[in-house]
Amino acid sequence: MARAVVATGYGPPTVLQSGEVEVRDPGPAQIRVAVRFAGVGPTDLAIRAGHLREVYPLPPGGVLGFEAAGTVEAVGADVADVSPGDEVAVFLNPTLGGYAELVLADFWVRKPASVGWAAAAALPASAEAAIRVLNQLGIGSGETLLLLGGAGSVGTIATQIAVARGVKVISAVRPVDFAAAEAAGATPVDFHRPLAEAVPAVAGRIDAVMDASGRSDLEAAIELAGGAKRVITLSDPRGPSLGVALSGPVPEYVRDLLAEAMGLLATGRLRLRERTVLPLAQAADAHARLESGELRGKILLRI
Ligand SMILES: NC(=O)c1ccc[n+]([C@@H]2O[C@H](COP(=O)([O-])OP(=O)(O)OC[C@H]3O[C@@H](n4cnc5c(N)ncnc54)[C@H](OP(=O)(O)O)[C@@H]3O)[C@@H](O)[C@H]2O)c1
Repeated sequence: MARAVVATGYGPPTVLQSGEVEVRDPGPAQIRVAVRFAGVGPTDLAIRAGHLREVYPLPPGGVLGFEAAGTVEAVGADVADVSPGDEVAVFLNPTLGGYAELVLADFWVRKPASVGWAAAAALPASAEAAIRVLNQLGIGSGETLLLLGGAGSVGTIATQIAVARGVKVISAVRPVDFAAAEAAGATPVDFHRPLAEAVPAVAGRIDAVMDASGRSDLEAAIELAGGAKRVITLSDPRGPSLGVALSGPVPEYVRDLLAEAMGLLATGRLRLRERTVLPLAQAADAHARLESGELRGKILLRI
């Protein structure tokens, strides 16, 4: 049995309690990892509250966590690229389970020695989403991207990668995040202002939109992009009804995306948001503080 934070059911942060889980031997294409740090993201909060039960069911005793970093403890019969003792970051979609001492993983990338444990754990879910959506939008050099939620974990990564690809990025953030957006190479606009006013003031035209906030004015974004064809949201449930694609991980691309992101991080071409580290036992507190807005930035649980 492995020590874990388990959900006793759907509900408020207090449903997250210390417990134990059984983590079986890895399947042929899986690895089992002794977790050092696990990432906490907004999707975890939505799953815990029961808002995503169709896509990510969380039965009583289930363990949250899309991403983690740790040491390989056992490998399946068909795994040839890592061995016990190797250091990895893992992406746990759709199986979850990162808030635990041990986890089974289908997707992993080696952690280079130059990347710290906490950074490695903070990378997989946000970077996979950021690069995936940029690729799906097919945005390239000379084009202009409107990025909604540009100061978030996904947005911070998407900004830097888009800028490196020669894209002009208009980033909708709150004023306190203007300096960070500018430092990453974006032109910030205040997300409290109507997009239809704020965006044309800084950009002639918008070629594509990435919604990494889930809470933006998608209708206005569609209008600015001249239609929904090149507008993608990561989490706004209204997207499909507006003709906007709601993007999720595509298993065959995940490994390449993780490798690309880890390569950028290891070579200093990618910087992650500031992080707050809390002990695993404070997972419920982390959820409560994220929900209340008291904590901003990326939260990691230390196992
Ligand atoms: N589909 C997928 O595969 C996938 C993968 C990863 C993440 N997601 C989802 O993608 C979203 C972003 O994830 P994340 O980890 O980057 O979350 P995050 O770090 O919380 O970032 C979200 C950002 O959106 C900002 N925001 C809030 N209201 C906004 C508005 N009206 N306009 C523009 N920005 C606004 C927030 O600003 P403040 O902090 O200032 O409020 C925050 O900076 C979440 O909804 C998450 O669940 C989906």
